[in-house]
Amino acid sequence: MPLEFPIAERMALLDASGIRKVFDLAANLSDPINLSIGQPDFDVPRAVGDEAIAAIRRGFNKYTQTQGDQLLRQAVARQLAKEFGWADDVPLLITCGVSGALMLIFLTVINPGDEVILLDPYFVMYSHLVNLAGGKPVCIDTYPNFRPDAAKIAAAITPRTKMIVLNSPGNPTGVVYSREELADIAAVARKHELLVVSDEIYNAFCYDEPFVSMAGLYEHTLLTRGFSKTYAMTGWRLGWCTGPRNVIEKMTMLQQYSFVCAPSMAQAAGVVALETDVSAHVAEYHRKRDMVCQALGEKFGLVKPGGAFYAFVPAPAGISGSEFVAKAIDKNVLLIPGAVFSKADTHFRISYATSDEKLAKGLEILACLA
Ligand SMILES: Cc1ncc(COP(=O)(O)O)c(C=O)c1O
Repeated sequence: MPLEFPIAERMALLDASGIRKVFDLAANLSDPINLSIGQPDFDVPRAVGDEAIAAIRRGFNKYTQTQGDQLLRQAVARQLAKEFGWADDVPLLITCGVSGALMLIFLTVINPGDEVILLDPYFVMYSHLVNLAGGKPVCIDTYPNFRPDAAKIAAAITPRTKMIVLNSPGNPTGVVYSREELADIAAVARKHELLVVSDEIYNAFCYDEPFVSMAGLYEHTLLTRGFSKTYAMTGWRLGWCTGPRNVIEKMTMLQQYSFVCAPSMAQAAGVVALETDVSAHVAEYHRKRDMVCQALGEKFGLVKPGGAFYAFVPAPAGISGSEFVAKAIDKNVLLIPGAVFSKADTHFRISYATSDEKLAKGLEILACLA
């Protein structure tokens, strides 16, 4: 039997206690109404699955080029040409999901002591990866409406600031940034020569207005998108990243010595995914977003989320987000406490990526807890 061995000090920078507490509390539930899951409830589109199987059958099972298979790279480049008017030799790296891209980005760009601006609440991976890379997360409070405020960002900049991380549509808030907000942030970033990381993994899930990408507004943007949410390929580990050529080249070198390449059959299927229309799924989530707002909007003072498939809801007065989540678990409803994504423990996150029936039932129970 293997025995315990000392762990590297950097691992003390990681902490999963917030989420673990929820899973511990939930462990005894037999058939919970699960509104905690951060992935689509629909399956991979049929044609995409068929292509992955066909790729395996025709022997497309070896390592691909580190930067990604050429067919997928060309397909992504065509999309970028259409969206931004960029040339087809745009720097591009196919990654193991957006998570893979984030890991490579932070390790490639962050020096020890560099400060990275995060807009709190934020996707929890960011702060952990920044810490792991030796950087220092600097959190800017965006409560109560989660709008990004360029003036607040400017005020947080020091000589050590290296980058700003944006995530629109956002996890956990569902907030979608407007063109004006992004342009204001771009002006600040340009003035201070900062890199902007734009995590656009939810770009397909935008309900009230057309999606705007930071990459079209700021020349020092590292843009990353993925296949996990749009095509329900969470287990297939596929994403991509584009940005300044020298950064993408170093990220590619690091991928060569770490992930090696994204899964080959997922890359083959990714080409088909990019040609697949997911608008029916997006319309479904738009409708579910409206269900959430109708049930909880006024009662909880919920800020209407414009995208992704989350709502970040204030806990009722007098109790913390974590206490409310414990109460909900008591009633068989699983949520994530806001403190998992934030320095504040005032909210809880609902994922509405579930069936109408479960969602309606969960919302009814939550409304009674208000
Ligand atoms: C904001 C955000 N970025 C990145 C990821 C990771 O996605 P991937 O499956 O592409 O690694 C997630 C997954 O929940 C996410 O919510």
